[in-house]
Amino acid sequence: MNPTSQWNADLYDDKMNFVSHYGRGLIDWLKPLSTERILDLGCGTGDLTAELAKSGATVMGVDFSADMIRSAQQKYPHLPFQIADAHTYTTEKQFDAIFSNAALHWMKMPEKVIKSVWHALAPKGRFVAEFGGKGNCELVVDALRVALAKKGISADERMPWYFPSIGEYAALLEKQGFRVVLASNFDRPTTMPDDDRGLRHWLDSFCSPFFTNMSAGEIDDVCLYVTELLRPALFQDGKWIVDYKRIRVFAIKTSE
Ligand code: BEZ
Repeated sequence: MNPTSQWNADLYDDKMNFVSHYGRGLIDWLKPLSTERILDLGCGTGDLTAELAKSGATVMGVDFSADMIRSAQQKYPHLPFQIADAHTYTTEKQFDAIFSNAALHWMKMPEKVIKSVWHALAPKGRFVAEFGGKGNCELVVDALRVALAKKGISADERMPWYFPSIGEYAALLEKQGFRVVLASNFDRPTTMPDDDRGLRHWLDSFCSPFFTNMSAGEIDDVCLYVTELLRPALFQDGKWIVDYKRIRVFAIKTSE
């Protein structure tokens, strides 16, 4: 089961809406035009698809999660959304640009995704994406490793995320034929909402693949242990600040 099919869209919109808030800066990289057809790949609950549509562009949002697409469709009934897996996505009519915020790190076969993006783009089409890079949320991942090991579970065997280095990802794009025009790798310490409960919201929203087949009590144990391991490093002035590291890329499809 792909972990992104298991989302809780209400929790995501209520507690994790910083994800689309931060993604707005990526639209400045894309510079959408009113004449363009743009695909939002991994659109979640559609907030950035709607933001892209404000440019006048013809947009389409796709996501692997039926819950996310249901929520996007309810919030933005005037826009088209579709359930689709980016690893195998195909389209009859190519797009001028493909945009993706905070989604590619959930897709563990990046070559397949890049191939889908390539085929879905028109010649000279732009691929503009942001996602977690090497070392993203490393302190949290390390704490999960320790806490799950106490239950005899290997976090690495359950790792749901792909966090490549910028060089690794740019090389995959180039191998497909893309011209990588811009690539950036930056730290983005990210403050969680809801004070002391913020880290637990993050764990509940993003970490369910680590907790497969665990009882609610066992999950609570792990989350409490992770919280206490991380408190000295990530809890500051009453807020949780998670150690995000992001990659942004801007690549152009050079030719078919
Ligand atoms: C995020 O989208 O913010 C995220 C998801 C999974 C791991 C790290 C960050």
